[in-house]
This record gives sequence, structure tokens and C-alpha cells, in this order.
Amino acid sequence: MSEKKQRILKISILRFDPHDPEDFPHMETFEIEEADGMTLFIALNEIREHHDNSLKFDFVCRAGICGSCSMLVNGRPTLACRTLTAKLDENITLAPLPLFELIGDLSIYTGKWMRGLNERIESWIHHKEKELNVDKLEERMEPSLADEIYELDRCVECGCCVAGCGTIQMRPEFLGAVGLNKVARYKLDPRDDRSDEEYYEIVGDEDGVFGCMTLLGCEDVCPKDLPLQSKIAYMRRLMLKTAK
Ligand code: SF4
Ligand code: F3S
Ligand code: FES
Repeated sequence: MSEKKQRILKISILRFDPHDPEDFPHMETFEIEEADGMTLFIALNEIREHHDNSLKFDFVCRAGICGSCSMLVNGRPTLACRTLTAKLDENITLAPLPLFELIGDLSIYTGKWMRGLNERIESWIHHKEKELNVDKLEERMEPSLADEIYELDRCVECGCCVAGCGTIQMRPEFLGAVGLNKVARYKLDPRDDRSDEEYYEIVGDEDGVFGCMTLLGCEDVCPKDLPLQSKIAYMRRLMLKTAK
């Protein structure tokens, strides 16, 4: 029986070291033999091991959980560790996600951006009670509500929705779907006692829910399939009511 011929992948990568004054953005193409079950994580490691050990890219979990391997694959924001090369053409183009600080090549500083966002929207449970009573049992929550909150908590802060949003490209202060999703998550949580008016202070303007132009790119590219649209619509309805 003849052996299956493996494809030769031509992977073109946008290379640039912003810390090197001599460097400039340019494409470099590497050819590697495709292996069965190969992901872009494996392909990039192969390139770094056998072609160029200076290539920069980020991976931690390799399982779609840490959100660190997001990049543009043929122009579309996605997680590289979850992308099988078999699903792509032989000619593959990789570039770093736009909008985030570039560390080098495909490596970007999403953590810094996400930290700024989380501090801005104060994405943690707010309790008015100053004293924490550890003997008091936490109030019960309806399982359906717990499921709804859990669904939104699956965000891995990969930044794909930010890179896929035209509004944020024009207005960098816009919270983006990741921010609006987090705000909706805390608003739904009965343990958070911030009032509607306090939420209005956070998202009731053009940089928040009223800035979203319903371009839908965020939901299209979210690798965790979060219901971003319905949560943005939920916050918008609530904020319209609060504004009256
Ligand atoms: Fe990534 Fe989706 Fe979270 Fe956006 S909402 S950061 S695309 S997981
Ligand atoms: Fe941007 Fe998503 Fe709104 S792509 S404009 S946040 S619907
Ligand atoms: Fe963690 Fe890809 S390496 S999501």
C-alpha cells in the first residue's frame, strides 16, 4: 500500500522586533512538512526548532484555555493552538493581533490591555457590607442563573473579539465585547450589589454599550462561542432604562 504523501506547508509570518531600531516589519516564509493532527502550535515549534530559533510566539496551555496564543491566521483572529493545519490551505499567513502592544513577531501583550480593562470596569464582586461575615451562608442562586454566569465566565481574555471589532480600531477607548461581556456578567450576579446607576457610570456612554455599532465581528471570531451579542443588547436595554 502506498504511503500517504504529506503536504508541504508554506507558512508566511509577519516578523518585526519593535525593540530593534534596525528592524522593520517584513514577511518571512518557512516550508515544513505537515504531520497528522498538526496544529499551528506544533508547526510554529517546528519552525523555531529547525529553521529559526529567534521566532517569538506565545503558548501556555495548548488547549484553548489560557488565551495566550491568539493571532491572525489568514487574516482572521483565532487561537493557534486550536487550529489544525489540515483545515487550512498549504499557504498560511500568520500575523500578530492588531491593537495590542507588540512584544515581537507573533507575541503580543494582551495581559497588560486586559488588566487595564478589568481595573477600569472593576470586574470583581462589589459588596457594600464592609465586614465579611464568614459564618453567613452564601445566598442560594437559581441553577439557571449560575449557568448563565458560568457561560460568560468562560472568556479566556484572548483578545480575538477586540481584534475583530471595527469600532475599537477607530475609538481605542471603546470597551469592546470582552469588556461589555464582563460588565453583563457582574450585573447578572446577585452577589454584586452595584446599582443600575453605578453600572451606568461604567458603561452608559459612547465608550461603553452606546458605542457598539453591532458590527458582529466579535461574536463571529470568539473561540469560546460566547453569546456576546445578546449580552451587549441586555446591557444596552438596561442602560436605556436607567438613563430615563
Ligand atoms: Fe476571547 Fe471571546 Fe473573551 Fe473576546 S469574549 S476575549 S474573543 S474569549
Ligand atoms: Fe464591535 Fe461586536 Fe459591537 S464587533 S461594534 S463589539 S457587535
Ligand atoms: Fe492556551 Fe492556546 S495556548 S489558548
